[in-house]
Amino acid sequence: GSTLQAAAAESGRYFGTALAASRLSDSTYSTIANREFNMITAENEMKMDATEPSQNQFNYSQGDTILNWATSRGKQVRGHALAWHSQQPGWMQNMEGTSLRNAMLNHVTQVATHYKGKIYAWDVVNEAFEDGSSGARRNSNLQRTGNDWIEAAFRAARAADPAAKLCYNDYNTDNWSHAKTQAVYNMVRDFKSRGVPIDCVGFQAHFNSGNPVPSNYHTTLGNFAALGVDVQITELDIEGSGTSQAEQYRGIVQACLSVARCTGITVWGVRDTDSWRASGTPLLFDGNGNKKLAYNYVLDAL
Ligand code: XIL
Repeated sequence: GSTLQAAAAESGRYFGTALAASRLSDSTYSTIANREFNMITAENEMKMDATEPSQNQFNYSQGDTILNWATSRGKQVRGHALAWHSQQPGWMQNMEGTSLRNAMLNHVTQVATHYKGKIYAWDVVNEAFEDGSSGARRNSNLQRTGNDWIEAAFRAARAADPAAKLCYNDYNTDNWSHAKTQAVYNMVRDFKSRGVPIDCVGFQAHFNSGNPVPSNYHTTLGNFAALGVDVQITELDIEGSGTSQAEQYRGIVQACLSVARCTGITVWGVRDTDSWRASGTPLLFDGNGNKKLAYNYVLDAL
């Protein structure tokens, strides 16, 4: 294939990007996005603060803009994200206990119902585990509602949209030997054994020199897939430039292609200048929309 989406489709996979609604009027941006990608994630527009700015008053305008842009062009959408400790609306940030649990479940139900039948996969819960060596859950207001908050969110999402794949999504879960990776693996294994509805695990894959692409990535993806879930690279970006960056991108693609249930790869933005990273050049297109060496390595590896 001559584009990322066409090349990925040769092995039955997708290639996606995150899009910002505010940038869709930039024709360089939207032309690249339309040409190269067939899976779209809203970079911010479907998050809790965007979709429920006041309690029980939902606003889908920006999320719908992304969804309609994608579906009218024949693309699929990953929903991101139903429950997360970050980017909560102000009214939720200081809530605790039963009222927060109920507000979270209502949010999951309402948003998943609004988008019912239109979402390929939802990141139902995002970033619920601690960094470092503890393997513990992250201490958040949602976690303090009870350790079962994650499975409660998954059950609510399944009830609202039975057709959507339901994913757990996190970062620093790429290296198989890290405690956080093991902790998420144990949760997914437990969910599968008890019949909690989970279909996929998302690996954000934000890499930099302090957090390089691990050489055992195929092991991590393969071990999760062996639990009976799909795995997806959901927010890929790699700081750096030139051959080093391109080789790391190639390593990610090769790791995904080596695992039958790795169903697709999404990069977290189009051009370097669109990246959430404050500095650096972590994406596949430069600020002028030109293909970088990393793009060529990815296309060749697909
Ligand atoms: C980031 C967006 O890219 C930024 O625009 C926003 O200011 C903060 O969030 N993990 C996630 C994503 O799951 O939602 C985050 O996106 C990046 C880290």
